[in-house]
Amino acid sequence: VSDVAALHRLNTAFNGDCTTEELIIDSLQYNKSEIVLIAYANSNPAGFLCGEICRSMCYKTLHGTVGELFVEEKYRRQVIAAKLIQEIENIFRKMDIFIVDIATSVENHTAQAFYSSCGYTGKTKMIYRKKI
Ligand SMILES: CC(C)(COP(=O)(O)OP(=O)(O)OC[C@H]1O[C@@H](n2cnc3c(N)ncnc32)[C@H](O)[C@@H]1OP(=O)(O)O)[C@@H](O)C(=O)NCCC(=O)NCCS
Repeated sequence: VSDVAALHRLNTAFNGDCTTEELIIDSLQYNKSEIVLIAYANSNPAGFLCGEICRSMCYKTLHGTVGELFVEEKYRRQVIAAKLIQEIENIFRKMDIFIVDIATSVENHTAQAFYSSCGYTGKTKMIYRKKI
């Protein structure tokens, strides 16, 4: 929660103006299925990652997803995202989660190159969305 201002700023840089510090605090405190990691570079907030613990009655095991990953432009190519991914994988392993899914857009070649460098392989899948 002490990172809320930094998380709000980083999230706004990535996703635009789509939440508030109050809602972030509430989510950090009460959303137990989300793990939020923040990275600092020389005491400056540099990036963040949101991992989710997914559970279904259809499967006996949990699985993990990474929904959001962002590193500020001036801190890119300094292995910050790779460290965030390593850290969420360590946390997931400790929870007996051994499968991690990450969705990114087909146009996001930087993210694709990054995830490949971390050992992820691309699977073709379509996401259907409807505004209801
Ligand atoms: C994708 C992103 C998180 C990578 O962050 P980063 O901290 O720069 O990544 P790292 O420094 O840990 O990169 C590790 C490796 O990934 C690959 N990689 C990262 N950026 C790359 C790029 N622009 N082009 C090609 N390969 C790249 C490289 O193999 C790199 O190792 P190297 O620098 O030794 O060659 C960052 O570019 C970003 O925030 N992009 C905008 C947000 C976004 O698209 N997020 C993903 C949405 S799901």
